Amino acid sequence: MKGIILAGGSGTRLRPLTQVTSKQLLPIYNKPMIYYPLETLLKAGIKDILIIVAPDHAGDFLKLLGSGKEFGCKFTYEIQDKPEGLAQAFIIGENFVGDDSVTLILGDNLYEDDFSVAIQSFQSGGRVFIKEVPDPERFGVAEFDENHKVISIEEKPKVAKSNYAVTGMYIYDKTVVAKAKSLQPSPRGELEITDLNNVYLKEGTLDVAFVEGKWLDTGTFESLHEAIVFARERELAKNKNN
Ligand code: DAU
Repeated sequence: MKGIILAGGSGTRLRPLTQVTSKQLLPIYNKPMIYYPLETLLKAGIKDILIIVAPDHAGDFLKLLGSGKEFGCKFTYEIQDKPEGLAQAFIIGENFVGDDSVTLILGDNLYEDDFSVAIQSFQSGGRVFIKEVPDPERFGVAEFDENHKVISIEEKPKVAKSNYAVTGMYIYDKTVVAKAKSLQPSPRGELEITDLNNVYLKEGTLDVAFVEGKWLDTGTFESLHEAIVFARERELAKNKNN
């Protein structure tokens, strides 16, 4: 299993914080944001990680993270010239993915869970992680049938069909590259991860797991603040127990 951290984009919703730096380098209590998704992958045993960054900040990521040796893993870097969608990560990462399965995590998503079992037990198809939220319209939203089976995923619907958001971590088999290449850009000009998930869903190979612990997408000032408070509480609790 390989890993990809997608840490590009322009962070427009967090301006002026992101005027001169990348969103994924902003501090979340005592660490840069990207450390959190990185630790999620490392905890799950992933040691070969591609980091995709925007051209303006590539040098900063390299300076911060280096080769990976310090983290006991290996980093590869690629640049995404323009934020043309999350699913583009697999086209950029085609050579990196090769014949392996891959876990994609967004550089601005924070998870409390340990995903070792979900990641190590993965065999084929796709796997997404859902979480009940009060504001599903901000996310990809899962729709269920009467047997609680997911039948579709809708990207930022005006009226959500459930309160279950598809969170920013996804596991796919090697067919993901060909599937990503078959996508058409959405009306907002992006290769949507939701369209990719729907390809797996139509094929009958998408399975859905629940996020048990806290999950935060730090895309807004409010959620950024919440993430900092959460990270601080977790760190203080850890220090108290040691
Ligand atoms: O956080 C989970 C949500 O992430 C999912 O529920 C949605 O289905 C998914 O589309 C995505 O929604 P966001 O509105 O959070 O996507 P955003 O455009 O903010 O991008 C998420 C992160 O990925 C952000 O840190 C920037 C980075 N990014 C984004 C795009 C579009 C890239 O690196 N490259 C890109 O092309």
